[in-house]
Amino acid sequence: MMKPMETKKFFRLLKVRGGKKLLHLLYSPLWLIFKLRNLGFTYAQKNAGEDPRVSKERSIRTLLEGISGGKFLEIGIGEFPHFERLKFVGEKNISYVGCDFKSVCEAHKEELAIKELDTKNISFAMNSTGTYSWTLFEMLQRGEQFDVIYVDGHHTFYIDLPAIVLADKLLKPGGHLLLDDMQWTLSFLKGNMLRSLSQWYFYRTMYNFSDYTKAQQSLPHIRMIADELLIKHSNYTKEESLSFPHWWVLRKKA
Ligand SMILES: C[S@@+](CC[C@H](N)C(=O)[O-])C[C@H]1O[C@@H](n2cnc3c(N)ncnc32)[C@H](O)[C@@H]1O
Repeated sequence: MMKPMETKKFFRLLKVRGGKKLLHLLYSPLWLIFKLRNLGFTYAQKNAGEDPRVSKERSIRTLLEGISGGKFLEIGIGEFPHFERLKFVGEKNISYVGCDFKSVCEAHKEELAIKELDTKNISFAMNSTGTYSWTLFEMLQRGEQFDVIYVDGHHTFYIDLPAIVLADKLLKPGGHLLLDDMQWTLSFLKGNMLRSLSQWYFYRTMYNFSDYTKAQQSLPHIRMIADELLIKHSNYTKEESLSFPHWWVLRKKA
């Protein structure tokens, strides 16, 4: 039996998440139009093996373990908070900054409040329009520095090239830059948006596929930036023991 307090929290969460589901349903005719416009789209095959989220989380925890009392920046925080990771961050006395659209950060704040998570080490850097490059630039102006920066935002060239240049400047010498979705392409995203109404709803206003040619849509932009800018031209090295095909951990020269 749930205690009255837990029942209250359960219904608050149900209200927040149920409201989102209802919005998805109201928008579903627009999703059908998106599907019709992309009839004949070829879906990418899924890789077999360990769930990439599990290996990624293991790698993140190993890195956070080594920066007790330090600073951790996440660029692109996703639809829902990682409660367990944030609890771990609190236990290690790490200051966490999450960078994303205002609406996404506000939704995280609401969920963290419902879960009654201790948020004294948690803050958000929000952009109400444009991209997180603006907020990252402001952090640089304030002289902020981080031990670990996890870049997992838009994954595209025009948005993430400036963000990664800024992340490099915000990272302490010897610090770690974590890059997710190294094999991600715009074509892969389109497939996910065609398959899932909630994915389409979350990303529908964030991506303009026509910014890129068909060939550019099938290239992994983050991997290209990492190879050319960070490894070849900026002295970053890949930590092989913490990296996977989809997930790279790069160390900045000390
Ligand atoms: C893949 S999700 C991040 C997932 C998260 N790091 C995780 O581990 O679950 C990408 C995030 O980038 C954010 N994003 C994409 N474009 C953005 C922009 N122009 N400005 C701010 N945030 C953006 C999206 O709102 C989304 O929350």
